[in-house]
Amino acid sequence: MDSTQHDYFVVKAKENGVHVIGLTRGHDTKFHHTEKLDKNEVMFAQFTEHTSAVKVRGNATIYTKYGVIETNEKDESS
Ligand code: TRP
Repeated sequence: MDSTQHDYFVVKAKENGVHVIGLTRGHDTKFHHTEKLDKNEVMFAQFTEHTSAVKVRGNATIYTKYGVIETNEKDESS
């Protein structure tokens, strides 16, 4: 199996109600799991045979091997 399917990532919620949404690998790209994190909760997860993409909704810090990504870096509504 392709070793990239084993990469880990970490999502740390900076507010209540952050969603980590797993999307299916393969021809169809569908939501298959939504995990809700409250403030300061951390989800440590992998890309797998079943999960090829992840969507993060809400204010969070995401740690990957490509670097650290902050969502809501600046408030674009103002
Ligand atoms: N059953 C899922 C899988 O093995 C669990 C999972 C792994 C998951 N990584 C994820 C769910 C990332 C949501 C986001 O693929």
